[in-house]
Amino acid sequence: AAGQGAAAMPVAGADGAASSSSTLTVLYGSQTGNAKELATQFQAKAEEAGITSKLVSMADYKPRQLKNETHVVVFVSTHGEGDAPDDAIEFHEFLGGKKAPKLSSLKYAVLGLGDSSYEFFCQTGKDIDSRLSALGASSVVGRADCDVDYESQAGQWSESVINAVKDDFADGSTGAVAVQTGAAIPQAGAQTYSKKAPFKATLLESQKITGRDSVKDIRHIEISLEDSGITYQPGDALGVWFKNAPALVNKFIEQLSLDGEAEVTVADEVMSLRDALTNKLELTLSYPAFLKAYQAATQSETLAELMADKATLRTYLAERQLIDVVVDHPGSITEQQLVDACRPLTPRLYSIASSQAEVDDEVHLTVAHVDYEAFGYRHQGGASGYVCEHLEEGGEVEVYVESNNNFRLPEDPNTPVIMVGPGTGIAPFRAFMQERESQDAEGKNWLFFGNPHFTQDFLYQVEWQSYVKSGILNNITLAFSRDQQDKIYVQHRLTEHGKEVFDWLEQGAHFYVCGDAMHMAKDVEQALLTLIAEHGNKSEEEAKQYLVGLRKAKRYQKDVY
Ligand code: 2AM
Repeated sequence: AAGQGAAAMPVAGADGAASSSSTLTVLYGSQTGNAKELATQFQAKAEEAGITSKLVSMADYKPRQLKNETHVVVFVSTHGEGDAPDDAIEFHEFLGGKKAPKLSSLKYAVLGLGDSSYEFFCQTGKDIDSRLSALGASSVVGRADCDVDYESQAGQWSESVINAVKDDFADGSTGAVAVQTGAAIPQAGAQTYSKKAPFKATLLESQKITGRDSVKDIRHIEISLEDSGITYQPGDALGVWFKNAPALVNKFIEQLSLDGEAEVTVADEVMSLRDALTNKLELTLSYPAFLKAYQAATQSETLAELMADKATLRTYLAERQLIDVVVDHPGSITEQQLVDACRPLTPRLYSIASSQAEVDDEVHLTVAHVDYEAFGYRHQGGASGYVCEHLEEGGEVEVYVESNNNFRLPEDPNTPVIMVGPGTGIAPFRAFMQERESQDAEGKNWLFFGNPHFTQDFLYQVEWQSYVKSGILNNITLAFSRDQQDKIYVQHRLTEHGKEVFDWLEQGAHFYVCGDAMHMAKDVEQALLTLIAEHGNKSEEEAKQYLVGLRKAKRYQKDVY
């Protein structure tokens, strides 16, 4: 196996030297590892088909090299509000920029990963596709925009790409393979539990950690992984499967006058409608595909009207769950049509709030219980409703670890860290501090935390205080947004402490952000750029470059959603 971080092995033609045979370059940009896994699987299939190929992370790829390529297959995910994964930021920017070369001899294919409940679904994949095309490259197979349940679509797409290009490699040349990073090879002793084969864990404890008068209901959850052999690292996430609430399932059945015991088929399995709605289908989000299928079945005119205007539709969806659509636009639909209109239920990922150095075979989470009244009835989050209310202590919950190599403590425990985690964004930093304590880390630690009110919402207050007392937590800076007339947020605190933050960065500190992607993480990044410019005496452009440098050195890492 190639060593960790080994430089790309030279492969025929990859460096621009004229070559008689082609090489297929598989590029991935991956935040949580899904795109990387698909790229790895794709390369294995290409190799089987006798295609000379190499696998490269976009982070390690010089985009200028594109002009020397013959075949490029891209796997890239999109996060939050249309953001490229960290690995892909430079590649994405380069393609969109003035320096991008003409690529008329390049053949390519792009697979995007995303979540269709977000507005900018698969945006990074779309951008890369349209830029490659604009630069003159020819697409061999149309882009795939894969939703959260991507496996089968990605598998079929990969097959068709291989079929489309394999004749270009038919000269019988041996499939020389270069695996660029050691990390591309699944770790030895990898977990036997996965998304498709989760571990049946036990809920040990669920405790509300916001106050009685808080506007938020945030829970500290403890789950037992006993006898599973599952291991995880601080920075990893826990995938949590859930069942939809009986009240919600009933509401669908009653609202549409359906028979809960009617037989339906979901992914080739026959079951009752009630079981399908409870265990198999996504009910607590809203997604355009449902509206389309529901409208087609019911022929609802009001819904057709609403869907005709994109902007209206977007606002409408943002404020609703599927049940609200059904209530607003009643109609007649069969049991099977309803099932077909819904997308498969997928687990939710929660940033893990514990370190095994501290909690052994437990895993802790910090979960915001989504639970509100709207349009005259109660709405709950799917997974958070299940874990926080429907699951009793001692009850069973199916889980698996989703590792995240893009959110890791520094390897050297003497490196300082700055952690910015308002709201439930605090979770991974509890894991970080538990880990740092167990390592007797000498590196300094600084936590920025924010929430509405000091008396109600200071999550894990006692733990932070004891870390401060024992001297491991050197600084804790708080932003209680609603304890005064004007809102104070973590980014305002960063600005106030700008000089010291910059000093820490100059001392090699790693900077971490966890929590809301749409507003907080963007505002924090802006505050960071401004303080780098001010205290580092840099122009705006130089500050940007400084941040790019941090990102490349894996010293600026985000876990945002
Ligand atoms: P607010 O709800 O009082 O506006 C965790 O949710 C904390 O993040 C809350 O205190 C919330 O404040 C705050 N918050 C809201 N918008 C934010 C933003 N753009 N940047 C940083 N924090 C924000």
